[in-house]
Amino acid sequence: MPVNNMDKPKIVTCTAPVNIAVIKYWGKRNEDLILPINSSLSVTLHQDQLKTTTTVATSRSFPEDRIWLNGKEEDITHPRLQSCLREIRRLARKRRNDEDPSLDSTGLSHKVHICSINNFPTAAGLASSAAGFACLVYTLARVFGVEGELSGIARQGSGSACRSMYGGFVQWIMGDKDDGKDSVAQQVEPETHWPELRILVLVASAERKPVGSTSGMQTSVQTSCLLKHRAQSVVPERMVEMTDAVRRKDFPAFAELTMKDSNQFHATCLDTYPPIFYLSSVSQQVISLVHRYNRHYGETRVAYTFDAGPNAVIFTLEQHVPEFVRVVQHFFPPDTHTEDFIQGLPVGRAALSEELRRGVGLEPMPKGINYIISTKAGPGPCVVEDPTQHLLSSDGLPK
Ligand code: DP6
Repeated sequence: MPVNNMDKPKIVTCTAPVNIAVIKYWGKRNEDLILPINSSLSVTLHQDQLKTTTTVATSRSFPEDRIWLNGKEEDITHPRLQSCLREIRRLARKRRNDEDPSLDSTGLSHKVHICSINNFPTAAGLASSAAGFACLVYTLARVFGVEGELSGIARQGSGSACRSMYGGFVQWIMGDKDDGKDSVAQQVEPETHWPELRILVLVASAERKPVGSTSGMQTSVQTSCLLKHRAQSVVPERMVEMTDAVRRKDFPAFAELTMKDSNQFHATCLDTYPPIFYLSSVSQQVISLVHRYNRHYGETRVAYTFDAGPNAVIFTLEQHVPEFVRVVQHFFPPDTHTEDFIQGLPVGRAALSEELRRGVGLEPMPKGINYIISTKAGPGPCVVEDPTQHLLSSDGLPK
């Protein structure tokens, strides 16, 4: 074989989704292994709207591991990146030794080039680390020929990343082993299970950069007795109830539990000392709007949830989307055209009745919401077969 052929890099590209927790993960019992103090449950969002794409190239001609994120070269020595790389290489070595000693062993010593981009603006403040680490681990596994349970490795990049390894409705079982081997994600139901469920991401105009989740939850674990109570006495039962609500596609039960769990998570943030505030005045207005909308109809048609930032994620059923979006548009009048305000899955038009407007009865907050991303539940990580989609060229550098 000619030398230049052997030097040709092996290149693989994959995509991975964002997920949004409806039972929140907040707090670790082991910082290095990223082991949580409670189980959590999330919905994987559709990659047509929100995804990370990662290309990994390996070649014996690469002198060192390198990574580019959203067009900028970053430090590969970051401990969480190193954990993922080390664990995938460890699995690959194990597989070679245990199963098939004839497996190509040279590739294992090769260095990697990693290039990753998001199809949504990082500035939107949407958690991108879950999709990012899930995509990294999934792509590395393909490159090194590793199969099977990978969520335990993604978890070591970012806790919530383990849930992005599956589509649909996913639980992260906290586990109780010291080595974390039983702290893994599992699919509860696939993305096809509840086709009427819709998700609207309301991107709030950010006022300030919030405290990061890693350090925020550290302070909460150290100082909040409410968090301890939540993890020990509230979440175990909620996990059972939520799984059941999802299985039965019981929207009111799912919605109520989702809102209560978001509220309790933010209550533990206020119980943290010094307190952490992730909800802005816009978030609070969204909370009021949802409750007033539901009260107007005398049933739970819409639910909100908030992570470590001011953006609201709304769950509702397909039939209510056009009207609810119209209501959001009325109470958060944008300064852009409707086409720019609503992105993602098409949203039908609906009228806003005087009765509903008065029923909600809030003071409009102009420009409080920058735009809405309309989406639904979607699949887990995928391989991109089309080589023109690779983010690295054959010389191993970003295109
Ligand atoms: C509020 O997974 O970002 O979004 O494990 O330290 O990387 P690390 O934290 P991260 O925390 C996510 C917290 C959350 C709730 C959730 O997604 O369950």
